[in-house]
Amino acid sequence: MAYETILCEVDGAIATVTINRPKVLNALNPQVAEELAQAFTALGKDAAVKVIILTGAGDKSFVAGADISAMRDMNPVQARNFSRQLQGVTSLMESLPKPIIAAVNGFALGGGTEIALACDFIYASETAKFGQPEINLGVVPGAGGTQRLSRLVGKSWAKELCLTGDIIDVALAKEIGLVNRVFPVDQLMDAVLKVAKKIASKGRVATRACKELINCGFDLPLNHALLLEAEAFCTCFASPDQREGMGAFLEKRKPDFKGEA
Ligand code: CAA
Repeated sequence: MAYETILCEVDGAIATVTINRPKVLNALNPQVAEELAQAFTALGKDAAVKVIILTGAGDKSFVAGADISAMRDMNPVQARNFSRQLQGVTSLMESLPKPIIAAVNGFALGGGTEIALACDFIYASETAKFGQPEINLGVVPGAGGTQRLSRLVGKSWAKELCLTGDIIDVALAKEIGLVNRVFPVDQLMDAVLKVAKKIASKGRVATRACKELINCGFDLPLNHALLLEAEAFCTCFASPDQREGMGAFLEKRKPDFKGEA
């Protein structure tokens, strides 16, 4: 499919989606949101793709937020629709049955932090910066920031970031649990590819179930979430991957997972 604001490359089991508006630090406008929705929908259906990487073009920015030029003259209805469109993309990413890894290679501000939060985890370069600076523009985050940030790093840090609009460096982002791992700029993509390939070598059924269980179970009472886990564990035994994985262990060989999810 031809996109104008993003790049979408598939190499074996790994797809890389790059938000590609470097002149405006990859700011998100309605067209980017629409193209991301199309790309993630297509990659979700592509049986060959097992893991997706999301990054930003250039060496300065992942995404510097929603496009302020596109938003300035929006009326309230257009603003709500834009917020719902961005929330739709982030919810789609979360509900995709395959992992998405954020490779944050610079500024991840406002909608940039929010779209990274919708990925399954974040690897970042030493130059990465995060923040929810919407308050400086007289608005609140509109792509899930108040909700996903507080769920990931806790209410206190989410409030400090959303209320001050401060931009934080990658060391603090890692300390508060927003970022999993930090790499020198020139090593970030290799590190992300390495972990993507490792995940792609696992079985689809268990990979999908892990993502769904952690996402869906998180907001449920523990006893309900544990029941979901037991049902998913049971479902794994309906897949050839369970016999292959356990058989390979006992036969002291590498498993070759072929189950479909
Ligand atoms: N929207 C539109 N354009 C943007 C942009 C954005 N979010 N961020 C950067 N740009 C543009 C700049 O206007 C500039 O364009 P020109 O060259 O035409 O002047 C270009 O990108 C380069 O940016 P700077 O010259 O500002 O670069 P810098 O290195 O001096 O500063 C920055 C970098 C600190 C990231 C700064 O650009 C900045 O503060 N950007 C805005 C960050 C922001 O407020 N994000 C939140 C947006 S609101 C939001 O995201 C709502 C939501 O939740 C849905």
